[in-house]
Amino acid sequence: MTISLPPSLLATLPGHYYTDPAVFALEQSRVFEAMWFAVARVDDIDTPGKFETVDVGRESVILVRGRDGELRAFLNVCRHRGAKLCVDAAGETKRSLQCPYHAWTYGLDGKLIAAPNLTKMPDIDRTEWGLVPVHLREWLGYAWVCLADTPPSFEDTVMGAAAARLGDTSMIDHWEVDSLSVGRRIVYDVKANWKLIIENFMECYHCATIHPELTEVLPEFADGYAAQYYVGHGAAFADDAQGFTVDGSEGLDKISGVGEDQDRKYYAITVNPQVFINLVPDHVIFHRMFPVAADRTTVVCDWLYTKDVVASGRDVSHSVELFHRVNVQDFDACERCQPNMSSRVYAKGGVLVPSEHHIATFHEWLTSRLAT
Ligand code: FES
Ligand code: FE
Repeated sequence: MTISLPPSLLATLPGHYYTDPAVFALEQSRVFEAMWFAVARVDDIDTPGKFETVDVGRESVILVRGRDGELRAFLNVCRHRGAKLCVDAAGETKRSLQCPYHAWTYGLDGKLIAAPNLTKMPDIDRTEWGLVPVHLREWLGYAWVCLADTPPSFEDTVMGAAAARLGDTSMIDHWEVDSLSVGRRIVYDVKANWKLIIENFMECYHCATIHPELTEVLPEFADGYAAQYYVGHGAAFADDAQGFTVDGSEGLDKISGVGEDQDRKYYAITVNPQVFINLVPDHVIFHRMFPVAADRTTVVCDWLYTKDVVASGRDVSHSVELFHRVNVQDFDACERCQPNMSSRVYAKGGVLVPSEHHIATFHEWLTSRLAT
């Protein structure tokens, strides 16, 4: 039985999209392993030998900086019998990565450089039996990887998403995001499906109810239409707000490239499937989502300031606290929904009101990807 909806309402996805491990498995292969995925802040892997490991879809990926200064990404799988090469989330090695099982040893460029009895096996091609490389791009100071054999265009799917939102290809360059430093990083363990988090970021119907501090600074957000109509071209700060801070107090040093027309404004961008970027004159808030299971998502949020601000050790807490509260408020709301995604009431899903109708395009995007 299909429920006929009045024109004001559009259907959401059915509840099982948020709970079913089979849907999550399909998302792993057709979304997270198929698209560009922001995995690490490049500055965190800044010297030869430094590495990080991250899960992308069902794979573990190792990012390591080579002796030549180049950052590379490989599947974190030993070519011998499949042991996970690195189990640490981050670390530093000297010249090589050695498998702890039978000691196959790989150079930081991925080539097989040593193994017990390797000289007695002259027919082994050391490049062919090296680590399997993963496509890697650097943008906004982040390393983005793609596990697809032929990745989608980075320019269209990642840079294009930001340009479409801001209405200008080069506008994001004003924030010089790659030159900023991490002033604070907070990792949130959210007991909710990744799509609930994206959908929440896409709408502002909830802002008046759950974000009192944010709506103080951005009064347009008290009207539920903000996400749809204002954010792309900048939501104005309240007249009495001196900065984008929890109490409206003054912010930090303005990023020098930010122009007059972008001053005292807030911009928000979603890059499917797992990145949210918020731009304000003195900082950038960069969220990376790592879907862990159908009902669990790790969100890593970086607050980025100019190098001078971070090096000076100035207090960024009023600035961080505003969006930290927003995050906690949003993630609580998502966690409130998650258990009810399996309720009989939600078997056919819920509804989107007009100020949320644009979320239907996200659902169309997702279902078309899952159908491929
Ligand atoms: Fe890695 Fe054997 S599995 S050396
Ligand atoms: Fe919110």
